[in-house]
Amino acid sequence: MPIAVLSPEQIQKKLLERSYPAQDSYYAMYSTWLGGVVENPSLMLVPIDDHIVHRGDGVFEAIKVVDGKVFLLDEHLQRLVSSAELISLPLPMDIASMKKVILETTAIAKQASAILRLYISRGPGGFTTNPYETVASQMYLVITTLKPIPDEKYASGVSVGRSAIPPKDPWFARIKSCNYLQNVLMKKESVDRKLDFTVGFDSAGILTESSTENIVILDKDNNLVRPKLAQILKGTTMMRTFDLAQQLLADKTIASIQERDLTEQDVRSAKEVMMIGTTLDVLPVSSFEGAKIADGHQGPVAKKLLMLLREDIKKGPKATPVSSVYAPA
Ligand SMILES: Cc1ncc(COP(=O)(O)O)c(C=O)c1O
Repeated sequence: MPIAVLSPEQIQKKLLERSYPAQDSYYAMYSTWLGGVVENPSLMLVPIDDHIVHRGDGVFEAIKVVDGKVFLLDEHLQRLVSSAELISLPLPMDIASMKKVILETTAIAKQASAILRLYISRGPGGFTTNPYETVASQMYLVITTLKPIPDEKYASGVSVGRSAIPPKDPWFARIKSCNYLQNVLMKKESVDRKLDFTVGFDSAGILTESSTENIVILDKDNNLVRPKLAQILKGTTMMRTFDLAQQLLADKTIASIQERDLTEQDVRSAKEVMMIGTTLDVLPVSSFEGAKIADGHQGPVAKKLLMLLREDIKKGPKATPVSSVYAPA
């Protein structure tokens, strides 16, 4: 049988017939290419000649909405701008317009809680590596379900191992680009090894980060420590959590807040180890390569930081109500 050459009508029909379970949690997609919002998951598409598809030439952010409020919107947009600047990728609209699109699309999605994935692509035009051959950069925003981490994981802690995937070059690690092959392979190895996460170490043995999360410790002297930002992504959640940790410093729960190089030995000997990121908040680590961290449960500092962060997500100054911009006609 010869291969069918499809008419536009046949293509539309076929696309609408295609469905699979994951689509049940896709609520809305905004696309500058289409100039509007798509609600049907089967039609949430990106042109194949957009360089984001065939070269990973783009940057992105994953932003959390909880109880109708977008958390750390400005911080995510600042990081997006910084990533785009580092690869000389012009934004398709200014930040105020981008914010408006984000809040309006979130309102259209009608989800009190969700994950917003915001992509800036080099845009459609040709299939080479040459970024100058594209028409113009584009923005795509997809809104999907926020899957909560089960409460037991916060009580019991998660398992972490040492990644065998070579970490990113420091310059690339600071860009949230759509080149996430190392991150994908780290996630794959953690699934294959039945671990919750793996974390990277550079060639000098310095701790980096996980697939899409940061890792921090409470050292044996009660100092709350995050790795230096030189070769990791500057996590918006980690930075905010460390701001909130000032309260634990004030009440002497912790001795100091630090940023320094950490080794595997620092992780193994820590009083507490925590994974931090947009979808996790503050998740305690109970084991590293099978060896218990402290007594193997959620420690008091992880517990307090989680409470402070959750309060901040619900009521803090960094939570932007979706309704603040969008007023349905
Ligand atoms: C490589 C990497 N590190 C850390 C993080 C945590 O960052 P955030 O707290 O902004 O989600 C992410 C997630 O965006 C990531 O992709």
